[in-house]
Amino acid sequence: MATDSQNLKTAYRPTHDEAARQAFVGALKGYVNGSMESQLAAEYDNQLKFDFMEKHGQEPRDRYQGTEAFRHSHLYQLWGSAVYTSQNLMWETVGDTCDRLEPAFEARQAMLAKRPTLGSLELQDDFVPPDPIRHVEIHRQPGGYFGPAGSTDLHRGMHYFGTVELYRNAKGLGDGSVAVGEPSMGRYLLGALQRRFDAIKPRAVLDLGCGPGSQTLAYKEAFPDAEVWGVDLSAPFLRFGHLWAEDQGVAIHFRQANASDTGLPDAKFDLIISHILFHETWDDILPAIMEEAHRLLAPGGIFINGDTPYQPDRLSIPKQVTNHWQVINNGEPFWTRFADTDVKEALIAAGFEASNVFADYDPLGTGEYFIFGGRKGT
Ligand SMILES: C[S@@+](CC[C@H](N)C(=O)[O-])C[C@H]1O[C@@H](n2cnc3c(N)ncnc32)[C@H](O)[C@@H]1O
Repeated sequence: MATDSQNLKTAYRPTHDEAARQAFVGALKGYVNGSMESQLAAEYDNQLKFDFMEKHGQEPRDRYQGTEAFRHSHLYQLWGSAVYTSQNLMWETVGDTCDRLEPAFEARQAMLAKRPTLGSLELQDDFVPPDPIRHVEIHRQPGGYFGPAGSTDLHRGMHYFGTVELYRNAKGLGDGSVAVGEPSMGRYLLGALQRRFDAIKPRAVLDLGCGPGSQTLAYKEAFPDAEVWGVDLSAPFLRFGHLWAEDQGVAIHFRQANASDTGLPDAKFDLIISHILFHETWDDILPAIMEEAHRLLAPGGIFINGDTPYQPDRLSIPKQVTNHWQVINNGEPFWTRFADTDVKEALIAAGFEASNVFADYDPLGTGEYFIFGGRKGT
């Protein structure tokens, strides 16, 4: 059981065998995302594109026609089953570590519950997450993001949190040097903020779609005097986030709410950040979230978001096809609809001035990240 000298950060340790299995899954995922996708691209350039042209008199123009070109490729079918299997194995192996450690996390939660809290946790008993996300097992996470009403589980948050670095490294967006639970992406987004704006000293910071809260800690680390808030739909994630933050002695206020309707006061925040929130929202909710962010910002406040860089106009047809496959088969149902969205237009429609919005790409690992947002007029 975790004690004060061994907090949850040090308690979260895969055993030798779990670590070996997780390393295997990471290597398998790295292989299917890297080498196998390169082989698919070569097959397309050398053969499939020409077969399609012979049949249709033109090259594939979009992900749908591209998928048609790939449909009978044995390599594509093998790639699909390898991605699917590696995702299952990821949940299984990380799940073993989380299931083994959940009692220690619960014991720590019970112990911390006896002390005054630094931050807070506001859950709503009758909260119903919006459609369609509440019916989807995002990332094919077993059981999804939302537990049954009245549940007190920590494992949904633990399982998500346990997979973040493994998944990121296998996508080429990390180098394997970051321990599970370090707020590496929060820190990265703060770097993206610094690259775009002069230093700021926010009084209050909001992490929209904070999930299990592990990235939120980066904002308190960077701005120790600021009040830091995290809002998410998922009670299990927030419950985990509250425990994780309190365990590390970090004051964060977690609130269960839709990012489009947080219930927080006008102009409360000088900085609003989201990390991979928007590619998990349907396009009818995205404009409302942007309006809410604009309402919550104080004059001169900054809204900055980091998300998936899969806008189709910058992707080859094979990459559009493999992304589309993930949408259909691998628990990423909103990826492409988000990628099709003109976020600058949406930000302007939400109230940001055209001269104050941005949407571009920053390097990350061997890839890139999509960074977008706006500054509220003064
Ligand atoms: C991919 S997770 C990212 C979590 C966290 N930002 C991180 O980086 O670890 C996306 C999160 O967005 C949340 N989410 C999706 N739609 C939302 C909405 N409309 N309002 C609030 N949170 C939302 C999900 O519950 C999930 O926790």
